Amino acid sequence: MQRWTPDSWRNKPIVQVPDYPDRQALADVEAQLATFPPLVFAGEARALKKALARVAAGEAFLLQGGDCAESFAEHGANNIRDFFRVFLQMAVVMTYAAASPVVKVGRIAGQFAKPRSAPTEKRGAVELPSYRGDIINDFAFTPEARTPDPRRQVEAYRQSAATLNLLRAFAHGGYANLKSVHTWMLGFVKDSPQSRRYAELADHISQALGFMEACGLDLESHPELRTTDFYTSHEALLLGFEQALTREDSTEPGNWYATSGHMVWIGDRTRQVDHAHVEFCRGIRNPLGLKCGPSLKTDDLLRLIDILNPDNEPGRLTLICRVGADKAAEFLPGLVRAVKREGKVVVWSCDPMHGNTITAASGYKTRPFDRILQEVKTFFSVHAAEGTYAGGVHLEMTGKNVTECTGGARAITDEDLNDRYHTVCDPRLNAEQSIDLAFLLADLLKHERAAVQPLAAVAGL
Ligand code: PEP
Ligand code: CO
Repeated sequence: MQRWTPDSWRNKPIVQVPDYPDRQALADVEAQLATFPPLVFAGEARALKKALARVAAGEAFLLQGGDCAESFAEHGANNIRDFFRVFLQMAVVMTYAAASPVVKVGRIAGQFAKPRSAPTEKRGAVELPSYRGDIINDFAFTPEARTPDPRRQVEAYRQSAATLNLLRAFAHGGYANLKSVHTWMLGFVKDSPQSRRYAELADHISQALGFMEACGLDLESHPELRTTDFYTSHEALLLGFEQALTREDSTEPGNWYATSGHMVWIGDRTRQVDHAHVEFCRGIRNPLGLKCGPSLKTDDLLRLIDILNPDNEPGRLTLICRVGADKAAEFLPGLVRAVKREGKVVVWSCDPMHGNTITAASGYKTRPFDRILQEVKTFFSVHAAEGTYAGGVHLEMTGKNVTECTGGARAITDEDLNDRYHTVCDPRLNAEQSIDLAFLLADLLKHERAAVQPLAAVAGL
């Protein structure tokens, strides 16, 4: 294999690239970004890799989620806070109910570039370039808005930095203190069945904390109760931007890290073995995700694993399966068996969103909540049958009370979608649906851990 450099991807075939009319302006922006400070540090990416290695070993669970596409227009403290607290609620539900550590990874602070199924969009007689995410062009359907503009990359960098700054403050500045477990409840979720279930669980946690304090434990001296580790991730799609933020680790010369986020993934449309996205990702040392859709052949998956994780390093590679509720039972066992047979260490994660997208009669793109639940359940049962570990989920979700996915406890119907359909890309779970799903995950995880733990105990004797 040829030597990797941060720009070696430029000699490979590539798909899903925007057509920038002004190449010089693009080169100037990339040169400018290359001088900006990194958004994350190599040491943090390594810490996440370690945490994911625990997931691969069946000792923790990966919760990854956030917007399909972040938008410049929706950038604000309230959105970030609402997302963060629903995410914390989900994590606490799973940690408590399933007694499992949860590795928290947001699809946030960099999730701006979108692959598209068609390069152009037609409305009536007008055909324009497709919207490719705010880092590339604008959603408005005009020729000016849809023309890729490299300066948007600087804006995406700025927004990522501001978002990350607030997330770090929330995670380490007191907001994530377990003592606040009751206050994470969102106003509009308060009178739902999920909120009653959540309030009960929060009571138990408060009681347990009170008990520990009464026993003389000084909770304030335990950072793991006061703070949380929260990581960022996004699809490594816009490679010029990623390259500009790829830096050599000063503490480990020769090792390069994408500093645009802690974890990056390769999308289902850009995972061709000999193409640019795989080439770029193989050389960076961050934890990587690989989306596995229904067209992925077992042989190709094994080749991709060899290229992306030649040393079989635990925590390096997360396989994010997104095949659809209908296909999961038939499709997943083959992949799981092959990976197990070859002795490859991976995290198996389930993206129950992207294989379950349909167009509602009203014309909106939506995802039925029961299909999402079904794919998650099938994912767990396949791993139970194969003797492997269902290690995580990858979700598109928001803290807002949107109506984008149908179903759930409030039974959102096709007709309701029009009420609060705010996504600029794919439909997201709203806060209630997210918490609902967290309770289901906690149940599945509890059973999974009950099934594997006796063996672990025997092995430890
Ligand atoms: C996504 O995660 O938003 C996405 C486009 O997924 P996939 O590559 O799996 O289609
Ligand atoms: Co999406």
